[in-house]
Amino acid sequence: MKDKSRRNLIKTGFLGGLAGMLGASNSLGKALGIIPTPAEVEGPFYPVMDQQDKDFDLTKIEGRQGIADGEHIIIKGQITDVAGIPVENAVIDLWQANAKGRYRHPRDPNPEPLDPNFQGWAIISSGKDGRFRFKTVKPGAYPASGTWIRPPHIHFKVSSSGHNPLTTQMYFPGEKLNETDLLLRNKKASDRPLMIAKPVGKEKNITIYQYNIVFK
Ligand SMILES: [Fe+2]
Repeated sequence: MKDKSRRNLIKTGFLGGLAGMLGASNSLGKALGIIPTPAEVEGPFYPVMDQQDKDFDLTKIEGRQGIADGEHIIIKGQITDVAGIPVENAVIDLWQANAKGRYRHPRDPNPEPLDPNFQGWAIISSGKDGRFRFKTVKPGAYPASGTWIRPPHIHFKVSSSGHNPLTTQMYFPGEKLNETDLLLRNKKASDRPLMIAKPVGKEKNITIYQYNIVFK
């Protein structure tokens, strides 16, 4: 089925109705080739110190003049369920290391400096048609243990009433470290591409990545 006609069917609620009749949106998702976003561990650096500014622009902190160091990027995507139905008002809780690979977390052992202008954490929600968007910096790689270096990644916890919450990590394309990452390489070959964002264009020289999220 072409993307456009699939969207039209979704709009008319046909698929939703069919999913209801089948009583199993998972089977319908399988038929449509929609695979749930693979889960991943939360990791040790979920923020423990509250902060005022948790908005969609992580490159600036309210009340400060400066902007975050590193490559600024935009991540956009859509949240759906496995039947392809958009999920509006989902809560997207995301956190990441700064451009040098350092988290603003008291137990991050990385000696790289904090960036006083990097927000590091955001809680946003999906809007119309399940879409979301945020601006941030490309996170740096960081040593995890011994010879294991984590590739650039962003952590997500996504929740919405009526769906199982999802904790996962999003990666970047073309990173050599993706191949040796102990977490990512443990995923099924068919799951890995679903965890890697895709560059889809530029906006004022800022690369835009697409990362869609599918609830189980
Ligand atoms: Fe991490």
